[in-house]
Amino acid sequence: MKFIHITDPHLVAPGELLWGNHTTDRMEHCLNDIVGGHSDAAFCVLTGDITDNGSEAAYEWMADRLQSFPIRTFLMLGNHDDRLVFLRHFPGTATDNNGFVQQVFRTDSAIFLFLDTLKNSDVSEGQYCDERHDWLRRQLSEAGDMPVYIFMHHPPFDVGMANMDRIKLEEPELFAETILTGENVQHIFFGHIHRAAFVKWQGISCSSLPGINHQVPLIRERVGSVYSREPAMYGIVRIEDEQMTIHHDAFLDRAPIPGT
Ligand SMILES: [Fe+2]
Repeated sequence: MKFIHITDPHLVAPGELLWGNHTTDRMEHCLNDIVGGHSDAAFCVLTGDITDNGSEAAYEWMADRLQSFPIRTFLMLGNHDDRLVFLRHFPGTATDNNGFVQQVFRTDSAIFLFLDTLKNSDVSEGQYCDERHDWLRRQLSEAGDMPVYIFMHHPPFDVGMANMDRIKLEEPELFAETILTGENVQHIFFGHIHRAAFVKWQGISCSSLPGINHQVPLIRERVGSVYSREPAMYGIVRIEDEQMTIHHDAFLDRAPIPGT
């Protein structure tokens, strides 16, 4: 099976700029590139910060654009999103019994859990409250020994970036305890940090991606700004037999080298 991981496009209204970029143009490039090279993907998943500020116009653009995008796409929320505005524009999105935008996707060979870690639109850290704790415990219990892949915006661990570590998932110990009740959790895909990072945490492999619009420099002092212009990427994930392979493709920065 093959699927696509996208994160943090931070969309604003079409025609508006965010940090010097046309966010919807970059997302358009991303989606077209996926269709051009990976139309055989089983699904796409966007791990949050769909929009930069919960803008109606940005969600509206995304909803319209996905109408003609041929690959099933799971949208998840990040701290820059607004749950109520999102649900107005994506009324068919599955939610749990408490209204959180989280759901399970089952295939014959694996279970994919898409979590909602949005606390509220005024803060940047993520939340793993009692209701979401109960939901995840139940999903892991029902999954039994099936391979489980988890998707979440906020990482439940530090990544060695002080500004991001301050706004990771709250309650990391409780989350770790829950994850370890799973019999066969294979990998955690996350966003939020706007960088490609690979982490092994609690014995589980984890990976993140750069955002589609802007990045967070690893060492802020070297860049002198909060955000940086580093290549945007999307992830191509292949799961076959006992192997998972993740490619990160810098779709806006491909150029041929003459003579090769
Ligand atoms: Fe973000």
